[in-house]
Amino acid sequence: MKLSKRMEKISGSGTIRMLEIAKELEQKGRRVIHLEVGEPDFDTPQHIKEAAIKAMNEGVVKYTSSKGITELREAIAWDVQRRTGAEINPNQVLVTPGGKHAILCAAFSLINPGDEVLIPVPVWPSYKDIVEMAEGVPKEVFFGEDYSINEEAIKEAITDKTKAIIINSPNNPTGGALTREEMKVIVDIVAENGLYVFSDEIYDALTYDGFRNTSILSFPEIRDQAVYFHGFSKTYSMTGWRLGYAVAHPKIVDAMSKIQQNSTTCATSFVQKAAVEALKGSQECVEEMRKEYDRRRKVIVKALNQIDGVSCLMPRGAFYVFPNISEYSKDSFQVAEKLLESKGVCLTPGRIFGSNGEGHLRISYAASLEDIKEAIKRLEEFLHSL
Ligand SMILES: Cc1ncc(COP(=O)(O)O)c(C=O)c1O
Repeated sequence: MKLSKRMEKISGSGTIRMLEIAKELEQKGRRVIHLEVGEPDFDTPQHIKEAAIKAMNEGVVKYTSSKGITELREAIAWDVQRRTGAEINPNQVLVTPGGKHAILCAAFSLINPGDEVLIPVPVWPSYKDIVEMAEGVPKEVFFGEDYSINEEAIKEAITDKTKAIIINSPNNPTGGALTREEMKVIVDIVAENGLYVFSDEIYDALTYDGFRNTSILSFPEIRDQAVYFHGFSKTYSMTGWRLGYAVAHPKIVDAMSKIQQNSTTCATSFVQKAAVEALKGSQECVEEMRKEYDRRRKVIVKALNQIDGVSCLMPRGAFYVFPNISEYSKDSFQVAEKLLESKGVCLTPGRIFGSNGEGHLRISYAASLEDIKEAIKRLEEFLHSL
């Protein structure tokens, strides 16, 4: 069967192999501790569920406007303004079935075949695949050692084909987050070179030790070049609901909505109603989840750093840690597979997040403290056996 040329470059999920092994083990009755998941382990807060049920019962079960219902676009504009300080008009908002789809719509709207897109790595691998789908050319740029922005590396990577840069702060998989000064470095590069910047801030509600995310939207000088992505999956534990959004210049939003009109049509109607409740209702649930992640973060970082030869930076945000295990092995796929087979702990090889992710593992702490402690104990035993 001949698939399109495009598909030759799309890698698909890098964790499928891990999940296949995990499934086999589970079918044999082994218990697997899952720390590979990129989703909160909490249930969606009850008041949000109730808003969806109410909407369904009231007949909100039809197609909506492709850009999203007005009530939600207004609520998002209000919420984004509350979090970033930037004044947002609802016509700058596009509601999508998941933040990921918003990124795809933006890539299809702004990237021409052959355009280069800079991607500071390690980072969530979907950016690379989405750029490939849009027939752009993804170019890795390495973050600094402590996941800070490497200004020189970015400047050196710019050519006359460079169209955009994609940043993700707080970052998946490292938990690193950019300071205002670092964001300003990106902003200046974007302004000087006439680039677009895609800023995925989906983890911005999950920051720790008083660190506050600086949004790309808080720099008015590049307002027309910035596309901001967010969603409900991480903040409100709503991964399965599929709801996200982009904020951009209305002209970009119009283009993106055409992609949506011809693909998904719109986000699910009653989910959009529930999302209004998520934004306008009490934010206590978000704070409760954040506090619990924070507790786990401290435990996991301490336990990892107590393993001889392993080093792990303290994440500023999100719910991942990215320990360096290169003293034991430079082959993160092999470590992850063997760890799963021998100890029943499933996590993600660092290599899938970029070439400098090799020698690392991504561990999600969206899991119970009990599982986290047991998993780190088993990881230590496994590493010492190498
Ligand atoms: C950095 C980042 N951006 C976007 C997403 C996509 O989220 P969703 O499509 O569920 O809104 C994820 C999910 O793992 C992510 O880690």
